[in-house]
Amino acid sequence: MADPKKLFIKTYGCQMNVYDSERMAEALGASGYVTTERAEDADMILLNTCHIREKAAEKVYSELGRFKPLKTANPDLKIGVAGCVAQAEGEEIMRRQPLVDLVVGPQTYHRLPAMEAVVQAGGRAVDTDFPEEDKFEHLPKAPRAKRAPAAFLTVQEGCDKFCAFCVVPYTRGAEVSRPVARVLREARDLVERGVREITLLGQNVNAYHGEGPEGTWGLARLIRELAKIDGLARIRFTTSHPNDMEDDLIAAHGDEPKLMPYLHLPVQSGSDRILKAMARKHTAESYIRLIERLRAARPDLLLSGDFIVGFPGESDQDFEDTMALVREVGYGQAYSFKYSARPGTPAAEKTPVPDDVASDRLQRLQALLTEQQRAAQAAMVGRDVSVLFEKAGRLPGQMVGKSDYLHAVHVTDPRAEAGQIARVRIIASGPNSLAGELV
Ligand code: 5AD
Ligand code: SF4
Repeated sequence: MADPKKLFIKTYGCQMNVYDSERMAEALGASGYVTTERAEDADMILLNTCHIREKAAEKVYSELGRFKPLKTANPDLKIGVAGCVAQAEGEEIMRRQPLVDLVVGPQTYHRLPAMEAVVQAGGRAVDTDFPEEDKFEHLPKAPRAKRAPAAFLTVQEGCDKFCAFCVVPYTRGAEVSRPVARVLREARDLVERGVREITLLGQNVNAYHGEGPEGTWGLARLIRELAKIDGLARIRFTTSHPNDMEDDLIAAHGDEPKLMPYLHLPVQSGSDRILKAMARKHTAESYIRLIERLRAARPDLLLSGDFIVGFPGESDQDFEDTMALVREVGYGQAYSFKYSARPGTPAAEKTPVPDDVASDRLQRLQALLTEQQRAAQAAMVGRDVSVLFEKAGRLPGQMVGKSDYLHAVHVTDPRAEAGQIARVRIIASGPNSLAGELV
């Protein structure tokens, strides 16, 4: 038998891209590909791209340029661009970069095997449709290999919120939820393959409204059903919009033990004026009230958020309002960004805040968020938490896992095994992780 062809996938951006890259590898697995960690060994290179911020497309073009020597050395090498830059740029990628053989958007990668056949025959293939069919149902069946203990599962895709700064509604398309039965089937399959923790993914995951028995199910009902799967120990979900936090989902944080006490709930700004300009459709006050309700349900909930500074029109006072909100809420973890104008979005038409002002604000906000993150980690020292071990650490005998609160925890103990959930006493806090010992 011929050696299997090798596939190198480089993934940019969000967790959904990580999930999509796994699915693309499986789809091409059916065409005889195995994955490799080394681009130099590959018969096919796929860049799974992100378009959310900064000069995303430019970065992809320069990355592609770097593959030129590989293509010269191996003329049979096929190069593809997938993900949100592929969706946004389409054919333009082929025009600007002749070494690209294949362009596939986030909603059509189930067609990769057919596209691969076209490029193997010497052609070029572009597919950036938003098809009617469910891509997940049309993916070639993957061999049922053992899986790592923590997995992602996409339950919802796309977004209808149209925040003024965001490309997601254009690149990922309208909001679509996968039917309940398909999600449950995939979850059971993951658990049979060794998965103990599932993170439900969606660009707007708490807007989930999948067809199920007795009509449409919300995310809370889906989580409660998933929690009945024996062997599944932990459930998380990301990422959410404040306006879709239904009552039952808030309640589930208090009464569903498998739902982990960590919530990523982006607010973007603490200024009502800016929130309005961003078309977020909530206020700083309504967000804070929501956090209070969540904390009433689950007092130890660790909160995470996203922030944008320097949105067009943001004044010093608007920025101070964001700082005040951060102080009031107290985040355990956060992501903050300087606003970047995305072509085709409404905010891109507006006059930007001077770059040095935005950079200054970002620095101040990040200093505050880092301080809060450190404090949240330091507060874990001396506590016993449960840790799901995922893989060996860098040091000999070390295992790394995640606590309930999603902190990375290192333990050096020969008894610690991947896939095991253990009680761990936290003994020290580093910049981005905790150290502990088995209780
Ligand atoms: N500029 C800066 N940050 C952005 N985000 C989304 N669009 C932009 C943009 N144009 C951030 C938001 C979002 C996160 C995924 O990325 O904070 O929640
Ligand atoms: Fe983008 Fe999130 Fe707003 Fe949807 S809710 S438009 S994904 S920022």
